[in-house]
Amino acid sequence: MWTRNVIVAAASLAQAWPHPGGSAVIPIPQSPPSNAGVPLENFVSFSIEFSYFPDYAGNATHPNTFSNSLLENIRAYSGSKPYIRVGGSSQDNALFVESQQEGAILNFASPTADQPANLTFGPNFFQSYHTWPNTTFTHGFNLKYNSTAAHEALLAEAPYACSSLRGQLLAWELGNEADGYSFGYPGSPAYRPASYNEADYVSEWLNLTRAIRAAMRKSCPDLASNSEYEYYAPSFASSPGFSMLDQIKAWDAGLDTDHDLKVFATHHYQAAATDPGISLQATLMNHTVTAASVNYVINQSNVMHAQPGYPPNLPFILGEGNSLARQGAPGLSNSFGAALWGVDANLLLASQNISRFHMHQGTNYRYQAWQPIDTPRVTKGTKAPYYGNIAVAAFLGDLTVPANRPHVINLPLANELQAAYASYVHGQLSKIMLINLHDFNATEGNNYTTPTHRGVQTFELQIPDSCSDRTASVQRLLANGSDAVSGVTFDGYSYNYELAGGKPVLLGNVTRGETVRAGWGGVMRVGVEDSSAVMITFS
Ligand SMILES: *[C@@H]1O[C@H](CO)[C@@H](O)[C@H](O)[C@H]1NC(C)=O
Ligand SMILES: *[C@@H]1O[C@H](CO)[C@@H](O)[C@H](O)[C@H]1NC(C)=O
Ligand SMILES: *[C@@H]1O[C@H](CO)[C@@H](O)[C@H](O)[C@H]1NC(C)=O
Ligand SMILES: *[C@@H]1O[C@H](CO)[C@@H](O)[C@H](O)[C@H]1NC(C)=O
Ligand SMILES: *[C@@H]1O[C@H](CO)[C@@H](O)[C@H](O)[C@H]1NC(C)=O
Ligand SMILES: *[C@@H]1O[C@H](CO)[C@@H](O)[C@H](O)[C@H]1NC(C)=O
Ligand SMILES: *[C@@H]1O[C@H](CO)[C@@H](O)[C@H](O)[C@H]1NC(C)=O
Ligand SMILES: *[C@@H]1O[C@H](CO)[C@@H](O)[C@H](O)[C@H]1NC(C)=O
Ligand SMILES: *[C@@H]1O[C@H](CO)[C@@H](O)[C@H](O)[C@H]1NC(C)=O
Ligand SMILES: *[C@@H]1O[C@H](CO)[C@@H](O)[C@H](O)[C@H]1NC(C)=O
Ligand SMILES: *[C@@H]1O[C@H](CO)[C@@H](O)[C@H](O)[C@H]1NC(C)=O
Ligand SMILES: *[C@@H]1O[C@H](CO)[C@@H](O)[C@H](O)[C@H]1NC(C)=O
Repeated sequence: MWTRNVIVAAASLAQAWPHPGGSAVIPIPQSPPSNAGVPLENFVSFSIEFSYFPDYAGNATHPNTFSNSLLENIRAYSGSKPYIRVGGSSQDNALFVESQQEGAILNFASPTADQPANLTFGPNFFQSYHTWPNTTFTHGFNLKYNSTAAHEALLAEAPYACSSLRGQLLAWELGNEADGYSFGYPGSPAYRPASYNEADYVSEWLNLTRAIRAAMRKSCPDLASNSEYEYYAPSFASSPGFSMLDQIKAWDAGLDTDHDLKVFATHHYQAAATDPGISLQATLMNHTVTAASVNYVINQSNVMHAQPGYPPNLPFILGEGNSLARQGAPGLSNSFGAALWGVDANLLLASQNISRFHMHQGTNYRYQAWQPIDTPRVTKGTKAPYYGNIAVAAFLGDLTVPANRPHVINLPLANELQAAYASYVHGQLSKIMLINLHDFNATEGNNYTTPTHRGVQTFELQIPDSCSDRTASVQRLLANGSDAVSGVTFDGYSYNYELAGGKPVLLGNVTRGETVRAGWGGVMRVGVEDSSAVMITFS
């Protein structure tokens, strides 16, 4: 409703102040509307594929300090380490083997498969929960394997899980995308009959969460209490054409009978790596396309909040997602363009009160923020999408104290290759993010036969009176072009592995330290290079 009013306001301002190029002065509200989004602590969170968690975190003798540095960089902005969900399809292909010495043994059907067909893990798997200081996790239990032996393994796992995660536990999770169990993933058999329905799912989920709790009562009674025993659920793919179960019906069938949902989690990817005709500009670097994808999630949140018995304060979050499902596409989801998409998508979600987004990661994945170890397929290193996470964390700021959390709004623009956001802290304008999604391909730009020119678009902002005489600082998210997979910086800093193992390194050759001030009539003008973003901070 509010969005529609502002579109009208923007259009009338455009008529009042036409200027070359035909774009409008962007009105920045004096104070946030009451329906502005307020992110929860660790809005910038990650989901790590269960089978690859030991790669990301390492273990007691070989902790992955590179990963820790990258998480620490985000903490420097957000006040606490990102929450880590350990889960994904492999959580439902994992069997606990109490006698196994190795943390995890992954069995691949083919050497080039992105994920193991299955894995076994032993008590030492849980060492990986102790390599990153001050980090909080969700641990994913297997719901899909439902033989008697699998249920016995699950209940044998529970005491190790609770004693390992004590003090670092955000919540448990049981099952990943159970709405696909009767459908089967590509290359994977269906694990439930076609008749499998929401009531079946809920009855299994309640039965096993109660059984796990009973097992924990014996070994970790403190974690089996009403206040500590909580879940991320239902963690459905909720994808048209894929989902055989409906999360609304699962709710209505009594998913929260035991009142142990910590958050209502759903999964979402903007598109899939296997979709025909995907490109950076058409699929990720177009605000209209991103808004349609985000609106799909917002609608689910609205529909859930309208369900009878849905507690108003039960957060609705994205427990898993990223740019292109099926682990991403090379040249697209691993590029700087995907980092710019990440800024747009994350801030649009935050502005619509989606409380948290766990962006999914896995070894060798094409959308990963970082590759935690060297493999024959991918070099260990910080990848371009990570810089999108950094920019989002910088924009949202310290989220640890509820009263200091920002109120985030999207600023509607006529140009669908631009996006803009404003944040307010204690009711005062705090930051503005401007994203220029116009594709500039550096490979083409550096083509000496037919080079292309990198344009600069000037955003004009109508700054509220209360801030119009203040000098604001400018921080840029930059790379050579949308296709760049290296050389990315935020505010002149690189977090690349090669430089200081993922710790921040200030580069001397990148523009930083700029300031900007509104001119006559309170209009601020900021140039933003094609395929880049700018954060403006009022202090
Ligand atoms: C710990 O990690 C190292 C390096 O990956 C590996 O060689 C070792 O087997 C792991 N330990 C366990 C218990 O899995
Ligand atoms: C695990 O995956 C491997 C590789 O595809 C396969 O040979 C094996 O049968 C699977 N094991 C189970 C228990 O499904
Ligand atoms: C963990 O967090 C606490 C509280 O903020 C802090 O005092 C401590 O230094 C942190 N530990 C590490 C290893 O970062
Ligand atoms: C496993 O699920 C199938 C299909 O829903 C069901 O027929 C079977 O009884 C289940 N097995 C157990 C041990 O619950
Ligand atoms: C219910 O949980 C028990 C473990 O406590 C398991 O043995 C049984 O198969 C489960 N039943 C169903 C229908 O999932
Ligand atoms: C952005 O995406 C929309 C929806 O697919 C499309 O209609 C529009 O042409 C795209 N805009 C540009 C400039 O590519
Ligand atoms: C919102 O979701 C509901 C439930 O899935 C669906 O029936 C409805 O069509 C959706 N509305 C929009 C505007 O997408
Ligand atoms: C945003 O979500 C939180 C957590 O669910 C809720 O408490 C708050 O009321 C929501 N705000 C709006 C404007 O809907
Ligand atoms: C440079 O552009 C020309 C004309 O579009 C093209 O034929 C050539 O392949 C390009 N070279 C590179 C290195 O991209
Ligand atoms: C960038 O341009 C090069 C040369 O034309 C092309 O091969 C590549 O696919 C482009 N990259 C993207 C992400 O569009
Ligand atoms: C970026 O462009 C500069 C100037 O053309 C070049 O020196 C540098 O190597 C490029 N960086 C990357 C990562 O391609
Ligand atoms: C800036 O310096 C870094 C580190 O020396 C180098 O890798 C990068 O290519 C340089 N960037 C540009 C745009 O010249």
